Amino acid sequence: MSEIHTAATAPVIRRAVVTGAAGFIGSHLAHALLHTGATVIGVDRRDPASDESAASNLAVLHGLQGYIPVTADLVDCAIDPLLVDADVIFHLAGVPGVRPSWGPQFSEYVRSNILATQRVMNAATRMRVPRLVVASSSSVYGVTSGGPSIESDRPRPASPYAVTKLAEEQLCLAHAARAACPTTVVALRYFTVYGPRQRPDMFIHRTLHAALTGRPLQLYGDGHQRRDFTFIDDAIAATIAAGTTPNDTSIINVGGGTSASLIDVINIAQSLTGRAIDVRADTARSGDVLSTRADTRLAEATLGWRATADLPGGMRAQMRELAQSPYSAAA
Ligand code: NAD
Ligand code: UGA
Repeated sequence: MSEIHTAATAPVIRRAVVTGAAGFIGSHLAHALLHTGATVIGVDRRDPASDESAASNLAVLHGLQGYIPVTADLVDCAIDPLLVDADVIFHLAGVPGVRPSWGPQFSEYVRSNILATQRVMNAATRMRVPRLVVASSSSVYGVTSGGPSIESDRPRPASPYAVTKLAEEQLCLAHAARAACPTTVVALRYFTVYGPRQRPDMFIHRTLHAALTGRPLQLYGDGHQRRDFTFIDDAIAATIAAGTTPNDTSIINVGGGTSASLIDVINIAQSLTGRAIDVRADTARSGDVLSTRADTRLAEATLGWRATADLPGGMRAQMRELAQSPYSAAA
């Protein structure tokens, strides 16, 4: 087992395992960790040699020292060897979208979000990894009154996806609560993360894409849904802080502090690009909650973290990346 080094100021992560490294959040996290001097074992089942989106996400890591890519499915690969000497596992691998989880892909959600997580926690325990940070989701709160959600609120997941994310975080916490478990767990409930390389199924990506290309944008419902949008750099700063916080096992909201409606997002995209978007009204989707809002006092107290990005600035950064990326612009 390796121990987290304690520097005069803050603990240092020397060796980290990032699952889901070829994804949106995982690729940003791997990049940021490499810049701190850490060695990063990046695990993902998508092979950049055959998956254009994974290759595009991982391109930013080319030439950086200390990155060890592993193409493997966490449901059936040997996990223990990947964890040797790891200070932290950042477990981000999973199947993410809310709306497709009602369909036949549900077994994929169960497989990657629950079964794979059980294997990762068992391996972390065996290999005595001191810390696991797991990507949970604001969706576990479900339908709220519109006020900020606090970590102690009773979860009321409103979609099959959200049910699997609640199961995932609780599974990790159940392992960590065992007397013999050497791994402490921090479950981060991310609130709708956006920024460069955002998944192409997500609203801000689709809105900017529509503004840049003139293609239509399908708006599910009346556009008054509100999200506490979180800029990727803020999400990454919270995630790295969670890797070393001395606090024991916990659940922490990671919300950007920007409550905006989908109509607000459309208006910002139009003003950033100077083009009108062809918005097509579509039916509201099951499981889509009207509002998410994070109470972030726990993140401030335990991680010393608070989001700093504003939505127009973050969307401008995403738009610039989208305009330059042949893959994203074609998505
Ligand atoms: P993403 O789809 O871009 O990345 C997830 C990655 O996990 C993919 O590259 C995928 O190939 C990999 N993966 C899935 N199953 C795997 C398996 N069995 N073995 C190995 N790799 C596997 O998604 P993202 O938006 O980067 O989200 C990352 C995590 O954060 C997910 O767990 C998601 O549920 C959670 N989350 C995301 C958001 C958001 O706004 N993006 C908000 C809340 C929670
Ligand atoms: C997002 C992520 O996609 C999930 O992975 C994550 O778990 C979740 O945030 C979270 O915070 O936990 P969601 O809030 O649904 O889920 O974000 P988007 O996919 O960007 O959708 C936002 C809103 O835009 C939804 O109301 C959706 O119905 C709407 N939308 C989306 C459209 O109107 N049109 C589209 O083409 C796509």
